[in-house]
Amino acid sequence: MAGLIPQHFIDELLARVDIVEVVGDRVSLKRSGSNHHARCPFHNERTPSFTVSSTKQFYHCFGCGAHGTAIRFLMEYDGMEFREAVAHLADVVGLAIPEEAQDAGPGEDHQGVYRVLSHATELYRGWLRQDGQRAVDYLKGRGISGETAQRYALGFAPPGWENLLRASDDRDALKAAGLVIDRGDNRVYDRFRDRLMFPIRDRRGRVIAFGGRVLGDGEPKYLNSPETAVFHKGHELYGLYELLQRERNPEAVVVVEGYMDVIALAEAGVDHAVATLGTATSVRQVERLFRVTKDLVFCFDGDEAGRQAAWRALENVLPAMREGRQARFLFLPEGDDPDSLVQRAGGAGFEQAMAGAQPLSDFLVARLSEQVDLTSMDGRARLLDHALPLLRRLPADIYRHMLIERIAGMGRVGTEYLEGVVDGQERDASRERPATTARREPTLRRTSVRLAIALLLQQPSLGADVAEPASLREIDLPGVGLLADMVEIARKQPNIPAGALLERFRGSEHESALWRLATWDHMVPESGQQAEFLDALARLEAIRRDQRLQYLYDRLQRGQITNEELAEWNRLLQGASR
Ligand code: UTP
Ligand code: MN
Repeated sequence: MAGLIPQHFIDELLARVDIVEVVGDRVSLKRSGSNHHARCPFHNERTPSFTVSSTKQFYHCFGCGAHGTAIRFLMEYDGMEFREAVAHLADVVGLAIPEEAQDAGPGEDHQGVYRVLSHATELYRGWLRQDGQRAVDYLKGRGISGETAQRYALGFAPPGWENLLRASDDRDALKAAGLVIDRGDNRVYDRFRDRLMFPIRDRRGRVIAFGGRVLGDGEPKYLNSPETAVFHKGHELYGLYELLQRERNPEAVVVVEGYMDVIALAEAGVDHAVATLGTATSVRQVERLFRVTKDLVFCFDGDEAGRQAAWRALENVLPAMREGRQARFLFLPEGDDPDSLVQRAGGAGFEQAMAGAQPLSDFLVARLSEQVDLTSMDGRARLLDHALPLLRRLPADIYRHMLIERIAGMGRVGTEYLEGVVDGQERDASRERPATTARREPTLRRTSVRLAIALLLQQPSLGADVAEPASLREIDLPGVGLLADMVEIARKQPNIPAGALLERFRGSEHESALWRLATWDHMVPESGQQAEFLDALARLEAIRRDQRLQYLYDRLQRGQITNEELAEWNRLLQGASR
């Protein structure tokens, strides 16, 4: 299975790649000093707040907060998977991915799996034409034409345990592809039998899995491929490839729940629908969809289960909501699904219903206010309470601002105040500030720990000057553990680019703090950075000594001090008075 790409390789790769070239190939950049600027490719804006730093080797947008290395940029911008992005960059700079990691390289070793999946697709299609009369009748009965069946490569798995097995000679690949089931005693049989087959294709059009429906009633209604090396249910969207074949940038995409919904909508000419595969819509799926369209319409049943599913979708859409993107929710009449609605009302009727879909903000506000009594102060406080975690999921952007404004209005508090609470700054109420000042980029208080981290990010080689990184950890101050971790990495790799250093902390609790420090304007000129860094460390060392003295003094007072500790106390006292 997936051999991990070793960290040292990623570091080396990031040290050789020039992020300015990688981004510059895709976005037009303007140079100023060691930075390059552009209008952010990840959100809509008029004035450029997207910065690419060639010294730090990272990009950062002050508007939407997007940030990362060259690897991350390819993942976000080109929609590549992590490995794909690494392989692509390795190719550009002429590095070979280490052997131990290669066996999971995209495409290469999974080729057998892709091959049997593609072979199976052809076989299923052939069987539908040759001896799939029942399946063809079933499709006809549901109003599906041969043309649509062909577009979605529908097929038929005949009854019998070994149709696929007998037609293929690569048993291991069949197993790896999830097409056969291992009985355990070295006997295998076909997973899909007597079912209508829906191939699931990836971004590049390769079949990666199947859904299989019983003809008529029967349990389970659908069988799906298991998770395999090439299929991850929560990542894929049924019908996306077929949609993009028709239209690279559809005006809107409809997200529905079922395979048959996608097919029936396509049949009726609504060919911009995709389906999640029986799971809640993930953040990743939403991001992927927003890369091809600006308008997402989620379609759910009108019953309580549908509303709950919609709410789960809403929670996962929030992190992707930025200005210029729109998400809407369409609730169907009780008892309807997209398939039945489009059969009854036709494609035009469905499009008309779509036009009346509820914007995300309306759905959110309606659902929140349903749960509380807005005429009482208590109720309004509960409203704000419920809204907070949702608002915090939104990227800091105009969209968030507008939603905060709206909810503040309902809760009858100031927008500015609520924005502060959302940002976790409400405890700063003592700090005077005019109500009109925007508080987007709060200035950071300059502490020794912050300064040391910021300087280290700018110039990782400074880490070589730290004699004893371990002693940093003894200090009782927020952030020193992180500083010590960073110093240790920097000492081992003084040439690590800041972007790569930051990448190590992606997904950790420190990530957002680190990015704020990486882009913090601390005003220390380059020539003074080393001295400033050493000063900060000296101040931390003084704090460590004071804390240690305090500890030893307590021990002395309580009569618990040992002889060694007493000697240490004396040493420290002399040092301190120097
Ligand atoms: P639905 O029951 O709405 O299926 O389940 P559907 O696609 O509309 O099919 P028809 O109209 O009844 O033929 C929605 C989705 O949930 C998953 C499938 O992905 C299905 O498309 N599902 C459902 C399963 O995986 N297994 C099941 O047994 C049922
Ligand atoms: Mn259905």
